[in-house]
Amino acid sequence: RITYVNGDYLPEAEAKVSIFDRGFLMADGVYEVTTVVGGKLIDFAGHMARLRRSLGELRMDAPTSEDDLLAIHRELVRRNALEEGLIYLQVTRGAADRDFAFPPAGTKPSLVLFTQAGPVLERESVRRGIKVATVPDLRWARRDIKTVQLLAPSLAKMEAKAKGADDAWMVGEDGFVTEGSSNNAYIVAGGKVVTRHLSNAILHGITRASVVRLAAETGMNVEERPFTVAEAKAADEAFITSASAFVTPVVSIDGVALGDGSPGPIAKRMREVYVAESL
Ligand code: PDD
Repeated sequence: RITYVNGDYLPEAEAKVSIFDRGFLMADGVYEVTTVVGGKLIDFAGHMARLRRSLGELRMDAPTSEDDLLAIHRELVRRNALEEGLIYLQVTRGAADRDFAFPPAGTKPSLVLFTQAGPVLERESVRRGIKVATVPDLRWARRDIKTVQLLAPSLAKMEAKAKGADDAWMVGEDGFVTEGSSNNAYIVAGGKVVTRHLSNAILHGITRASVVRLAAETGMNVEERPFTVAEAKAADEAFITSASAFVTPVVSIDGVALGDGSPGPIAKRMREVYVAESL
């Protein structure tokens, strides 16, 4: 694999950053994941807009222009002959002696990217649907910023797996579902698609924005509001969205099967509509 590290295209064995990088010491960094299908970047403008926002919220300098970032993504697709998979991009505040205060102005942000080849369109998880388990949401109060602080969702996913599920749905102290470990969460009940409204409690998914818009355009009734675990377990169907999962059906919550326990018709339709628009 060829990676990108601060201006250089390097084989992964040579891709290295400083031990003083604030991403490593303090999780002082943000990231984006863009999906590639047929060599084409999906929703790239949306990911760049969110990156700009994450950087702004953390008062972090942009490493380079968005035109450059697009050129780097395209070059990695080319060098790795990436047909289907993901491109991971991470920006950190750079390397500086360890201090809680930000480093001096002029410290160069670090920029790294790498690709991960793998199926996006045809996945077992989509055919079967996934099982989710609910776990407490232990993350900080600014989940709208896409930081590299991913320990809480990593633990959430492991807890869900220990319970025999494929992924976690995280639940706030108020008893309402926030989102999946790395995806947004939806239920379908009484013919309505319900997903939590945008706030600092969840990541503003780029796929979510497309799916909410497409649902409305195709005549679905969408309600953006929080829902409880009990409401979710009683729903007709459920699904998740993310750059890598697109729309993936959820077939059970904490062992309670939804509908007949197979992927629901609205989840399948939303996936078809999203795929048709994106490719
Ligand atoms: N995760 N919520 C969380 C907590 C996420 O980490 C993600 C993305 C999403 C979905 O956002 P989008 O539709 O823009 O991918 C929601 C990425 C894919 C990841 O961490 O790998």
